Amino acid sequence: MREMDKDRVVALLNGILEQELAGVIRYTHYSLLVYGFGRIPIVSWLRDQANESLAHAQQAGEMITHLGEYPSLGIGPLLDKHELSIAAILAESLETESKALALYKELMAAVEGRSVMLEEYARQMIYAEEVHAGEVDKMMRKPGELAATRKPG
Ligand SMILES: [Fe+2]
Repeated sequence: MREMDKDRVVALLNGILEQELAGVIRYTHYSLLVYGFGRIPIVSWLRDQANESLAHAQQAGEMITHLGEYPSLGIGPLLDKHELSIAAILAESLETESKALALYKELMAAVEGRSVMLEEYARQMIYAEEVHAGEVDKMMRKPGELAATRKPG
């Protein structure tokens, strides 16, 4: 197995940890701002996403401490566009989730063929985040519309 650049891997993992923690705050914030007929299922979905982001943050943190390094106490960027339509909330969620996905893909490239554990972790997370993004994309389509609003990958 090839040698892995541990500093770079830890930096990527810390970036993921911060991004996922920002997701916890973002989803919790938006879950407080949903009104109208669809409120109950959408609030519940947003809170599930907050919990999932927390679980992902914890997993990234566990990987950092597994490597004997210090987990960041920082948090990724949070922007409040004050746009409260469900479509705007979903679009922002898709945009920020795609940043997390890009970090997981960078991590994958940094660990591939170098650490089976980290490769397996990165692969599972890419799978989970892509399924998640696909789900959001389906929610953003109009009923009866089949074409994806975003390009896969
Ligand atoms: Fe995530």
